[in-house]
Amino acid sequence: MSFTFVGGAARQPIIHTSAASLAAPAPVSAPMTSKSPRSDALLASCGLALGAVLASGNRKALKQSRKTLPVMQAIGDHFAHCPDFKDELLATAKALTMPGKGILAMDESNKTCGLRLASVGVENAESNRQRWRELLLGTKGLGDCCGGAILFEETLFQDTTDGKKMVDLAKENGIIPGIKVDTGLVPLVGGKEGESWCRGLDDLKERTTKHYEAGARFAKWRTTVRVRDHSELAVQEAAHGLARYASICQSSGLVPIIEPEILLDGEHSIDECAECFEKTWAAVFKACADFGVALEASLLKPSMVTPGAQSGSSADPETVARYTKASLKRVVPPSVPGIMFLSGGQSEVQATLNLNALNQEANPWHISFSYARALQNTCLKTWSGKDENKAAAQAKLLVRAKANSKAQKGEYDPATADEDASALEGMYVKDYVY
Ligand code: 13P
Repeated sequence: MSFTFVGGAARQPIIHTSAASLAAPAPVSAPMTSKSPRSDALLASCGLALGAVLASGNRKALKQSRKTLPVMQAIGDHFAHCPDFKDELLATAKALTMPGKGILAMDESNKTCGLRLASVGVENAESNRQRWRELLLGTKGLGDCCGGAILFEETLFQDTTDGKKMVDLAKENGIIPGIKVDTGLVPLVGGKEGESWCRGLDDLKERTTKHYEAGARFAKWRTTVRVRDHSELAVQEAAHGLARYASICQSSGLVPIIEPEILLDGEHSIDECAECFEKTWAAVFKACADFGVALEASLLKPSMVTPGAQSGSSADPETVARYTKASLKRVVPPSVPGIMFLSGGQSEVQATLNLNALNQEANPWHISFSYARALQNTCLKTWSGKDENKAAAQAKLLVRAKANSKAQKGEYDPATADEDASALEGMYVKDYVY
């Protein structure tokens, strides 16, 4: 007797939590060995019903076990937690993953946005954040390359300088508004020194309901795992938080972007990075299955698989693409529509080259960008807080967005691209806080 018929966990892709087990064929009962509450509940109820049948062989027990099955299968309905939003969620995910499209990440916290503004001599005042973010969202033609923009809460509820809603400016420009909903990283009690976990679940349902009303249609939650010397708790907590967040967002009509960032900080090799990537993502998808996330209406936001920033080595785009795709293929189900990479401190050109390399052959998913620094850097420098530079800065943003749009289709050609010197500047910052 196998457990494959029992409800959601078996109907979701079976994903294992260690790199070694990824290579081995999956025993059908593997998902039931997890400690997740849902698997435990399924195992318990399944075990009870089947146990009764096997032990007694009587018709009453068989009838009882049959009664149990439809209930468990209902748990496996991928949209059971968000039936009213199913069509809209799928439409949003589709719009964000059209050929040539990616996402503009502009969800820096006000503090981090302030650091960016300070780097070009602009004071971190609400009016300046408003001018800067309005410049980004109002860039004509941006919607042809960026199907969505991730906003910080201030922007979602803010007006433009001429009294229009920021979300309306985005929508008029063909850009779907998204919202960052995690409330930031804090030290992980019980983890190793320096590890973090991500907060924000407590009132997430209430907040995401308001975000939907304000016009957001997708969301982002970023947590981090470091490559060397991470605790199992850090990986499991990242997976738990992301899966709970994703399910709650879907119940509020928001497509969740799932972002466990594997940190670039460290001396690790590219192989160690790949191992941590696979282990973390496998745990994330196990948790998504346990908590009933509809993968078809979710997007991923991974970091690329690279050597650590302090490793003393670097990898060319072909190597980054080879490693990253090998890892993705081992752990990411093809039901996920889009993989939208973060740039993680790469230069604008590097991030475009890596994306281009990732798209040199057909992929099971739409592979694209959700860059912040690697879309904004040259634009911000060109603007430098001056209204007279606004049009030139928007032109720079469009150049970058178009380059990445081409890279999404594997068509970026560095030989013919006329790149600014600032587009070659690395932007890596150790212990980067978003
Ligand atoms: P970067 O592209 O600057 O790494 O930002 C990623 C991110 O998570 C923003 O939403």
